[in-house]
Amino acid sequence: MVVDSRQVVPGGLFVALPGERVDGHDYARAAVEAGATAVLTGRELDVACLVVDDPQTALGRLARAVVDRLDVTVVAVTGSSGKTTTKDMLAAVLSRLGPVVAPQGSFNNEVGLPLTALTCDESTQLLVSEMGARGRGHIAYLCEITPPDVSVVLNVGSAHLGEFGSRAAIGAAKAEIVRALRPDGRAVLNADDPVVAEMAEDSPAPVTMVGESASADVRACDVRLDQGGRASFRLSDATGQADVTLLAVGEHQVANAVSVAGVARHLGMPLPDVAAALSAAEPASRWRMEVRERSDGVLVINDAYNANPESVRAALKALVGIAGGRTSWAVLGEMRELGEATLTEHDAIGRLAVRLNVSRLVAVGEGARAVHLGAAHEGSWGRESAWVPDGDAALAMLRDEVRAGDVVLVKGSRLVGLEAVAAALLAEDEEDAP
Ligand SMILES: Nc1ncnc2c1ncn2[C@@H]1O[C@H](COP(=O)(O)OP(=O)(O)OP(=O)(O)O)[C@@H](O)[C@H]1O
Ligand SMILES: [Mg+2]
Repeated sequence: MVVDSRQVVPGGLFVALPGERVDGHDYARAAVEAGATAVLTGRELDVACLVVDDPQTALGRLARAVVDRLDVTVVAVTGSSGKTTTKDMLAAVLSRLGPVVAPQGSFNNEVGLPLTALTCDESTQLLVSEMGARGRGHIAYLCEITPPDVSVVLNVGSAHLGEFGSRAAIGAAKAEIVRALRPDGRAVLNADDPVVAEMAEDSPAPVTMVGESASADVRACDVRLDQGGRASFRLSDATGQADVTLLAVGEHQVANAVSVAGVARHLGMPLPDVAAALSAAEPASRWRMEVRERSDGVLVINDAYNANPESVRAALKALVGIAGGRTSWAVLGEMRELGEATLTEHDAIGRLAVRLNVSRLVAVGEGARAVHLGAAHEGSWGRESAWVPDGDAALAMLRDEVRAGDVVLVKGSRLVGLEAVAAALLAEDEEDAP
């Protein structure tokens, strides 16, 4: 089943959804010509069609019917940052228990989630559902499509603060994933995030607390970062302990990994196997702390997928850790959707960059100007911090001033287009190569 007529396979069902830019109904004929057996549509069309009141609701109900019919364990994940990263890690680790279906990319909404669920078949044992929320009731709705057996809440940050109004409101929306559990389910909650930890009170099911706090049931201790910014830690629970070294970059990965461990332990995987599987999990989705080295030794960290205050902080710490004594560059774009907190959050990032001793800060675009100003107020001077109007200007500056051996973090929302800057930095190397 597909919603894009270009992806139709013979015998498939095409769901005609009204999109932001195009209306799926206009592609019904193309879908049938490409081999679709029928079109699920909101109105009568001149092709074989199943007419329903609302194709999107029907898509969700179909997915639910499939999930109900199969014997799959649903693991649902939400959080302000790290859902996709954790989803990938879950898929890698849980595949040791049996066949897993997990979303492609970041399919985490009312369309992507049912489409993912519809790819389950009789062989599927586990379904990982990434659940994003832009408002109240969104996650509750997603939980009706794939009712969770295990619900994971990673963190409650300030992503989408603009739409929700407050962190408490974001927390309330995320808690829907916990309230949707049945009493025989399990909540896996971040003990280190107070807003998440409180959700234990909302849970109809037993809770596994995970994190670095002493109160965690599944715990990470002795966290260290190696020179490549990869974290090692000791994973422990009531049954013992085992060492983990992650392949993904950044200390924030520890929180994601320990959540995965909480799920895997609940599903019966022995602790040493969990540790081994976590240590073997390759980062799967692009533009998230992707580290590449140019032949001149310049290290480019491409984290241009999205940016919110928590993920920028995590990325800055990783940058400084990786750079060690080398010159570190933080090329930062605007963080979107922060509402009234926009100015203070950007200012705080600029100040943090100074406190972490980032060598060169480059704030890109009008929305990121406060990052530069924050750095200046915190005492940066001269060339330590700069503001440039756009990606092209940032690239010109980097081409001019980055030296062999420097470490360059590029971080922003994909809407701002900074991944092009990271790509251009790396492409230069290919042009120079013999
Ligand atoms: N636990 C974490 N805490 C802070 N930042 C994180 C965490 N995990 C991942 N990140 C960073 O957050 C950014 C987004 O990661 P990811 O795509 O996994 O999140 P997401 O929640 O799926 O985002 P989206 O809402 O866009 O789907 C990346 O820059 C990543 O490095
Ligand atoms: Mg995602």
